[in-house]
Amino acid sequence: MVSILIDDNLLLRSFQPDDATELFRAVDESRTHLRPWLRWVDATTKQEHIQQFIHRTLQQLHNQEALELGLVHNRRIIGGIGMHEWDHMLKKAQLGYWVRKEYEGQGVVNRALVRFIDFLFAKPGLNKIEIHFMPTNTRSAAVANRLGFKIEGVIRQSYFFNGRLEDLVITGLLKDEWKKA
Ligand SMILES: CC(C)(COP(=O)(O)OP(=O)(O)OC[C@H]1O[C@@H](n2cnc3c(N)ncnc32)[C@H](O)[C@@H]1OP(=O)(O)O)[C@@H](O)C(=O)NCCC(=O)NCCS
Repeated sequence: MVSILIDDNLLLRSFQPDDATELFRAVDESRTHLRPWLRWVDATTKQEHIQQFIHRTLQQLHNQEALELGLVHNRRIIGGIGMHEWDHMLKKAQLGYWVRKEYEGQGVVNRALVRFIDFLFAKPGLNKIEIHFMPTNTRSAAVANRLGFKIEGVIRQSYFFNGRLEDLVITGLLKDEWKKA
């Protein structure tokens, strides 16, 4: 179980099996907002899919493959933040994030990511964190930019999404850069 306190109202924590109903509701209510950017949304049509997802996140945590956390505001799940593609040899991983539409534009993802990045460089001892996003995802680009991630390049037609091959912008943040900032 991982739990990272962000402030008096905001917490990042591992998902538990009894989060399934609320997490499914959060995703279901936010479909229009999430589906242009996240591949798993259209595949999540029933609560059972969320139960499988939560089960998988607990296994991945146990196997040290990934870290998927719920973003909880005053005990309500308002989004998710995750670290995946964890490469233990390179000490490198990728970040993913989403928030319910009603919480967008308030800086909650930014505040949670600042603490999560502190945690990732300290505890699992990462040396580099990447954020990948489609060039049209300007909100995600702003998240990465605000945190000091540098654009390292664009890999063309490398992401299969909604039946099309999309480009991906690769951004990265090094532990040394984070410490200096
Ligand atoms: C990407 C996503 C998580 C960004 O959410 P967000 O709320 O814009 O992100 P932040 O928490 O960094 O908040 C920044 C916004 O809060 C505002 N803000 C308010 N207080 C703030 C604070 N203390 N610190 C930072 N920003 C603050 C900023 O001005 C900015 O608002 P604006 O863009 O409307 O000017 C959200 O748009 C989303 O869920 N998108 C769909 C899923 C997705 O695309 N995921 C990423 C796939 S790569």
